[in-house]
Amino acid sequence: MYNNTQILDLQEQTTNFLQQQADAETSASEINALKAVLRFHEYRYYVLDEPIIGDTEYDKLYQLLKEMEAANPSLITPDSPTQRVGSSLNKSFATVQHLVPMLSLENSYNADDLRDWDRKAKEQSHLDGIEYCIEPKFDGASISLIYENDQLVRGTTRGNGIEGDDITTNIKQIRSIPLSAPFSTYGIQQIEIRGEIMMTKKAFAKYNEDLASQGLPPLANPRNAAAGSLRMKDPKEVAKRNLEVFLYHISYYILKGEKQEDLDTPHPTADKKELSSHSNSLQFLWDLGFRSPQKEKQVVKGIEEVIQHVHDFEQMRDKLPYEIDGMVIKVNDFALQDKLGMTTHHPRWAIAFKFKARQATTKLRGVEFHVGRTGAVTPVAKLDPVQVGGVTVSSISIHNEEYISEKDLQLGDTVIIERAGDVIPQIVKSLPELRDGNQTKIAFPTTCPVCKSNLFKEEGEAVWRCINIECEAQVVERIIHFVSKDAMDIKSFGDANVRKFYELGLLKDIPGIYTLDMEAIGQLEGFGKKSKDNLVAAIEASKTQPLNRLIYGLGIRFVGENTSKVMANAVQHLLDFANKTEEDLQQLDDIGVKVADSIHHFFSNEQNIAMLRQLEGLGLQLFNTKKETVASGGLQGQTFLFTGTLNKLKRNDAEALAEAQGGKIVSGVSSKLNYLVVGEDAGSKLEKAKKINTIKIISEDEFLALVERVV
Ligand code: IVH
Repeated sequence: MYNNTQILDLQEQTTNFLQQQADAETSASEINALKAVLRFHEYRYYVLDEPIIGDTEYDKLYQLLKEMEAANPSLITPDSPTQRVGSSLNKSFATVQHLVPMLSLENSYNADDLRDWDRKAKEQSHLDGIEYCIEPKFDGASISLIYENDQLVRGTTRGNGIEGDDITTNIKQIRSIPLSAPFSTYGIQQIEIRGEIMMTKKAFAKYNEDLASQGLPPLANPRNAAAGSLRMKDPKEVAKRNLEVFLYHISYYILKGEKQEDLDTPHPTADKKELSSHSNSLQFLWDLGFRSPQKEKQVVKGIEEVIQHVHDFEQMRDKLPYEIDGMVIKVNDFALQDKLGMTTHHPRWAIAFKFKARQATTKLRGVEFHVGRTGAVTPVAKLDPVQVGGVTVSSISIHNEEYISEKDLQLGDTVIIERAGDVIPQIVKSLPELRDGNQTKIAFPTTCPVCKSNLFKEEGEAVWRCINIECEAQVVERIIHFVSKDAMDIKSFGDANVRKFYELGLLKDIPGIYTLDMEAIGQLEGFGKKSKDNLVAAIEASKTQPLNRLIYGLGIRFVGENTSKVMANAVQHLLDFANKTEEDLQQLDDIGVKVADSIHHFFSNEQNIAMLRQLEGLGLQLFNTKKETVASGGLQGQTFLFTGTLNKLKRNDAEALAEAQGGKIVSGVSSKLNYLVVGEDAGSKLEKAKKINTIKIISEDEFLALVERVV
């Protein structure tokens, strides 16, 4: 797409523009140069995933262009990077007809299916040993894009294959899709390109986390998340979803001066190299700045090589950053594709090879109701055990009452379940058409299944809660959370011991951890001297855990690890929170109305205050010992990120060391990062950081020297 000279030139222009202010004197050529610079950086970031400037610099250039355009509105063009962000909402999506029907592919499931398909292709073409191009079958939402006179004019969903929804405004939010591309250089006047919109596994996990923090049930898989995102009313929301694209098929194009009706072949320029074969067309798209599966594709000869490759690729499936559900095998030569043609349903020149299903059907036998540490009552579906994606699944959370009615779940139903990669299994849907009259409605309890007190549901919430804070289930879950790894990290305690000690009456609340009757525990089966000593040592060690871990361990609603750190840094002593108003709390970073209300509620409760006093009496650290260090910390305002395996420090301790000196831990590589601390086997973060020259890349020893713990 860009040669070395162009790259050097664009880099130089980037530096120049970064030093420039907008003024009214801007010329068209200057604006065009800045647009080209921004497009170049979008391509580096979104298509190649190899940015050479940081987010801040990109934002600065983007802002400069906006200001230049504001001063010279006549110079705004539809393909300007500023024109992606539409300000108006999508009212509804118009139905439009595809230029060429979007057919689906025939499926195959094993080597013999593939051999059969190859045999037919050979018979029909009288060839021996056909060349195939193989690429991943991307598991997202398919789209079609139309470019006319080099400009993106339309983006549509697949719909029913004949007609789809016009989602152009939303499509423009996806920055790996060019708003314009120089097709005219090849004589092409109009072209339709097909591809798949996807959400990476990482973006999907984050999306589900966001849903959960709003009390909403998660989506089953990245495909649903991507498809749903494309139909959102607000294009700005689409932009936030980090959608990605792969463009894998040119379905149609016409040359200048021609009409669609005049076409007698789908490939009017099959004599031109770029458009003579599928693999060349992927290269062609790539060279024009599109994200085609150029690097993911493989050209092979004969079906046995296809079989080998698809099996090899299946082994890598879980290592990919996005979901694929198989491979697509395409006859490479376009002339041969045209010769093979299509059936009414699918092309004869392509076939999908489906990987082992990650969906399975099973029966919903019962529902149990679990009470969590905040009193939330979660229904858990009990299923006939079934193998899916390599594990046996027999119970799945079904979140809340609304979810049950949305999915129309009944006891005795046949349900489809799915486990995508490392995502928690979900029920995709029920199959009401298979009901035989023996199904019954799922009755949601009105009282707590554990303590029998009445359940309550807050206005605007989907979750029923037991509000009796002495409810046994909640007490046990709170203790489990308190001892857990990310909280007080009391090793060798664990869920099972908490439950066991509780049932035996040896442990009834959090302070009870520090007054456990070790004599009695020593008598229990499986508790030899060694495990008893380990437990005593772990409990003792937890007393000096930093304040943020204690706060997190208290399990205050909406207070996660980050908020706990913010809270710990805001006080001298934990009980200072008892004197803070909700307004005071809202002054703190990242604490909004809801979180402030929850913290205030916790510290207004006398039982909680009494418990904290008791813990202090038992030797726990309620003072913020870190705070003084922060004040004198030499790393104030510096950001850190750790990657790879550290040898001398545990990741958590290393982070704590940086924070103790006023440093801040960030989650990703961007121009906002000051230090990347690199351990063994560092991967993509290191690669990314190398491209941003403001980031200091240091070793673990250098880090230790920096925090003055010289090795
Ligand atoms: S080619 C006329 N290539 O799979 C053939 N499709 O079951 C056009 N898909 O509707 C499709 N990855 O949404 C093709 N590399 C790939 C694909 C792919 C995913 C989807 C596409 C299509 C469906 C067919």
